[in-house]
Amino acid sequence: MSVKNKFFGVLEKTAKKIPMVSHKMDKEYDKMLGEIEKSAKPYKNMESYPSIPETGISHEDILSVMTDFQQKEEGKWKDGFVSGAVYNGDQKHIDFLNKVYALNSQSNPLHSDIWPSISKYEAEIVSMTANMMHGKEVSGTDEVCGVVSSGGTESIMLAMKTYRDWARKKKGIKKPEMIVPVTAHAAFDKASQYFGIKMVHVDVDSEYKAKVDEVKKAVNKNTIVIVGSAPTFPHGIIDPIQEMSEIALKNEIGFHTDACLGGFVLPWAEKLAYNVPLFDFRLPGVTSMSADTHKYGYAAKGTSVVLYRNLELRHYQFYTATDWPGGLYFSPTFAGSRPGSLSASCWASLLSVGEKGYMDSTKKILQAADKIKKGIGEIPELNILGNPLWVISFASKELDIYQIMDAMTRKQWSLNGLHKPSAIHIALTLRHTQEGVAERFIEDLKQSVAEIKANPKTEGGMAPIYGLAAKIPFRGAISDLLKRYLDILYKI
Ligand SMILES: Cc1ncc(COP(=O)(O)O)c(C=O)c1O
Repeated sequence: MSVKNKFFGVLEKTAKKIPMVSHKMDKEYDKMLGEIEKSAKPYKNMESYPSIPETGISHEDILSVMTDFQQKEEGKWKDGFVSGAVYNGDQKHIDFLNKVYALNSQSNPLHSDIWPSISKYEAEIVSMTANMMHGKEVSGTDEVCGVVSSGGTESIMLAMKTYRDWARKKKGIKKPEMIVPVTAHAAFDKASQYFGIKMVHVDVDSEYKAKVDEVKKAVNKNTIVIVGSAPTFPHGIIDPIQEMSEIALKNEIGFHTDACLGGFVLPWAEKLAYNVPLFDFRLPGVTSMSADTHKYGYAAKGTSVVLYRNLELRHYQFYTATDWPGGLYFSPTFAGSRPGSLSASCWASLLSVGEKGYMDSTKKILQAADKIKKGIGEIPELNILGNPLWVISFASKELDIYQIMDAMTRKQWSLNGLHKPSAIHIALTLRHTQEGVAERFIEDLKQSVAEIKANPKTEGGMAPIYGLAAKIPFRGAISDLLKRYLDILYKI
């Protein structure tokens, strides 16, 4: 049983014991979480290091242990069994990025006087991304600009903090609210919690697109920003960005397009004549965007770009300390010191892949997606949610979709379980464009559906638990368990 399976097993048991007095509950949690600790920590029996060793261990020994781990872990994603996660994965590309990392491993853009090269790389990463998003086409005093952040979540959180501070200063809003479709990434909720911005959720329609009417109705004097995704993480659907951003424009508030997932796919898909609605700075209401270089930009994990329509907005993101005894201090993002090596390898990825490389990759991914969508369409028990391009979610009206996911897990696949509604998805990457992978996916899916149809009462796995996790009304108890799971990850 996988860690995830065991974890959801704990949820199920917990749900049965609610309500319960809290000290009793604590004991129950400990007992149940103890059960999953073993699978969350598969290397528990290996030597561990709770304290710094008295004398250093040889480089060879350290590398040997790490090579073992790496070899155990890489097979699954390399062979294309994993949804998302590793977006390029080609060995030559990895080797090249590793060389670039090694060259720049000591750099820190906080000290731009010592490493001006990293400032150059970051300025150019932002410019390349802005141009891809038609940043040159803005008019008047606008000038698309941005920064390199550590990932999609940081880009989103930076943008939301920026709107909070902008609205406080420019509009005197002290109780800010953000309008966010329920399908937008959890990072927006994280921003709401961290920065005290009230989350106003809007629903999606039968095509999984944000309901424009609900957005219109939700705007009030405290609204600082409206959010849309291009596309969403769960269903790979592009929200009606044009209509939503027009509402923002009319109300003189911000509009953020979250293109973390699609930023380095949609511009090329549009050029390849796929049906891509406008989602970028060509729309006058779009005031900021996030686009992840560490996804389909094929950079190593740890970089993303947040863009703003003008320099004024970006200033609300920047931090400066003018009276600190440590000197004059300023930093563009949440971190202080940052890994310049990751920005360097991001720059190297964009340059080495080039527009032609991105076009070719996008074409391959979209062709694999067409094969997979066609294949799913031929399985009568399944239905694709909405009309996605390459992040494909599907459900079943007659079978338990989580049982189908379990059957796929038994065949090596690592797919994403979704809820509200119950569904699963696969985010296609270059790994799935390898010969035979799309065909293997459809073959395995057909077999999985047949297995569950023949035996709908298949026990175990995640199926009952996933269903339950969506239904339990005690969300606080689930949140508590998730936190305790994180505690486990930090146990040695
Ligand atoms: C649409 C969307 N936004 C934001 C994020 C968050 O990105 P990260 O995991 O890099 O923080 C993701 C991640 O999958 C995403 O799909």
